[in-house]
Amino acid sequence: MNIEALTATARAMVASGKGLLAMDESNGTCNKRFASVGIPQTVEMRRAWRELLLTTPGLSTCISGVILVDETIRQAAAVGMPFTRVAQDAGLLVGIKVDTGAKALAAHPGETVTEGLDGLRERLRSYFEMGARFAKWRGVIAVDDMRLPTPACTAVNAHALARYATLCQEAGLVPIIEPEVLMDGSHTQARCQEVTVAVLRSVFEQLVLQGVVLEAIVLKPNMVVAGLACTPENTPAEVADATLQCLRRVVPAAVPGIMFLSGGQSGEDASGRLNAMHIEGERPWPLSFSFARAIQHPALDIWAGKEANRVAAQRALMHRARCNSAALKGEYSTAMEAT
Ligand code: 13P
Repeated sequence: MNIEALTATARAMVASGKGLLAMDESNGTCNKRFASVGIPQTVEMRRAWRELLLTTPGLSTCISGVILVDETIRQAAAVGMPFTRVAQDAGLLVGIKVDTGAKALAAHPGETVTEGLDGLRERLRSYFEMGARFAKWRGVIAVDDMRLPTPACTAVNAHALARYATLCQEAGLVPIIEPEVLMDGSHTQARCQEVTVAVLRSVFEQLVLQGVVLEAIVLKPNMVVAGLACTPENTPAEVADATLQCLRRVVPAAVPGIMFLSGGQSGEDASGRLNAMHIEGERPWPLSFSFARAIQHPALDIWAGKEANRVAAQRALMHRARCNSAALKGEYSTAMEAT
């Protein structure tokens, strides 16, 4: 294992002012998003959307890398150049989602365990050969006021994340460790914090137990927010305080970077909350973003599957990328949304 190379990749992922563009929706999720705005759900339309994202002019000024999915890493731009080359030529690191999805956890109604460990060593080797330098695996944790998550759900997902992470490091890929505590439900922010702390504790316990090198991972957590059905909404400062308190309690300083998922927050909320964390003072790790929805929308709505809308959609994508980049310096404000 070349720890220096892995650490250098992790540091490049969280380079100053930059975050990740996640474009690794499974075909099912991508199709659902296409259907909601009337875009045909075909391989070619998914390819065209990913080409639009990857060829956005100036993307690498705010984005360090992209997370692809198996279908996309094997595709090419309309001119024939493989997407991996398109990304590399644009100055973007290539990442790949390698889990095969969250499946119902036996004997635990309402909970899931993420699968994809079978054959993972071989798949990672071939993704590395294709040019990938980091990978992503998402464990999903449902939460309610009392019962969920069960200790079993937390334990199996933490165990799988660590199994995946050791295989990634062996293959020369930086593992993004993503244990997502969902926003669905009416739980309070305090409950989200309690669960997020417990889940992250369990994840780090497994990472250490299984020999993962902490200097060569990136953590992708949820922000600590109340459930979507809980009112009133948290202010950006409340989210920043609770999130940083949670992370400081659990995440070792050896971790080279923390890149948040957006999880169903609006683009404006995600940028505002990220910004608040950057006007809060010192912390041991760089904080950044690895957003899918909060950066791809509203570009997807504007594109609507029509070539004539490509430039306007790319402009909208760049706008969200710039807002998030500004947030990493504490320079985002809602006034930016009017520009
Ligand atoms: P969202 O930012 O839409 O929650 O997606 C996160 C993710 O895991 C994609 O890689």
